[in-house]
Amino acid sequence: MATKALTNNKQPTMILGIETSCDDTAVAIVADGRRVLAEHIASQDELNRLYGGVVPELASRRHLEMLVPVTEKVLRETDLSWSDLSGVAVTYSPGLAGALLTGLSFAKSLTLATGLPLIGVNHLAGHIAANYIDTDLEPPFLALVVSGGNSQIVRVKDYLDFDIRADTRDDAAGEVLDKIARELGLGFPGGAAIDAYALKGDPTALDFPRARLDTGEFSFSGLKTAALQWLRRNDLGTGELRERRLADFCASYMQAVVDPLIDNLRAELGASGYGTLGVSGGVSASRFLRRELQILAETTEIELHIPAMRYCTDNAAMIAAQGYFQLKLGSGVYPGDLDAVANLTL
Ligand code: KG4
Repeated sequence: MATKALTNNKQPTMILGIETSCDDTAVAIVADGRRVLAEHIASQDELNRLYGGVVPELASRRHLEMLVPVTEKVLRETDLSWSDLSGVAVTYSPGLAGALLTGLSFAKSLTLATGLPLIGVNHLAGHIAANYIDTDLEPPFLALVVSGGNSQIVRVKDYLDFDIRADTRDDAAGEVLDKIARELGLGFPGGAAIDAYALKGDPTALDFPRARLDTGEFSFSGLKTAALQWLRRNDLGTGELRERRLADFCASYMQAVVDPLIDNLRAELGASGYGTLGVSGGVSASRFLRRELQILAETTEIELHIPAMRYCTDNAAMIAAQGYFQLKLGSGVYPGDLDAVANLTL
């Protein structure tokens, strides 16, 4: 369905979005699925740094503390009241079960009190919907979602019609960056630190394996094991030498993560005939990956969309955006019995 048909009403349709699938407590209000009126994210990075990762129980408890103040802040910023809104969209899958439950329970309470419809949004559909924010992009297009939990190539046939063309068989791209970063003492999450080193190094210095699967799936766990073994067998040294070796190691590792993504995208662009690629998820912040995507776009003559950084990582604006299209198309609007599911696919 064309976007114009969805947005021709004089009054904008405003959706409150709630996202608590992992460690960010995020709330946003979005008009007509594309214009963000207000947004706020309470990050748990400080907490995660203390433990070297996300501790599910602690993440849920922090969501519980933050959901009310973050929502109040967003409402205050827009000066809107509940009667101005058309629905409450909330992530109900996939993610950490306890974390999802906090956001979903909160959303249910809001809809019970206000009478607004409850719109359950799949987190991955949300990542794809980030491509609609501040653009007039319409399906069909090809989407790459690369984050700490996902590595997927999806044909977005329509706002609610997805065909997963490639998925990871084991670890996600961001996950293998974070694991190696932790091993190197570069903090958590360490994708950005690996990326920064990778840009300074020689990507051909080390020959890491790339899994070539006939099925079109990705597999990154063999690469991660090979890199860990290399680190155990080799000394990076100290001082300037360490910096140089670290840069070469990260560049070679990053190239081995990015190559299968680009190869699969090239094949899928050819097979689908789609002229647009939308990229989202936290790993799309990688300048190394963006450089390769740019080359892909130029050589295949497709249009490349990468949302603003704050909409690539977990956020609630993307959930509100997807919620808007679901509400308009009459799908994914639930009675009060919607449950949180840890591992649903698209
Ligand atoms: O989408 P996201 O915020 O959370 C989910 O996993 O859903 O993605 C987080 C992932 C982490 O693995 C993090 O290391 C990675 O995104 N990341 C990056 C960069 N910034 C964040 N990876 C590579 N380069 C970056 N600049």
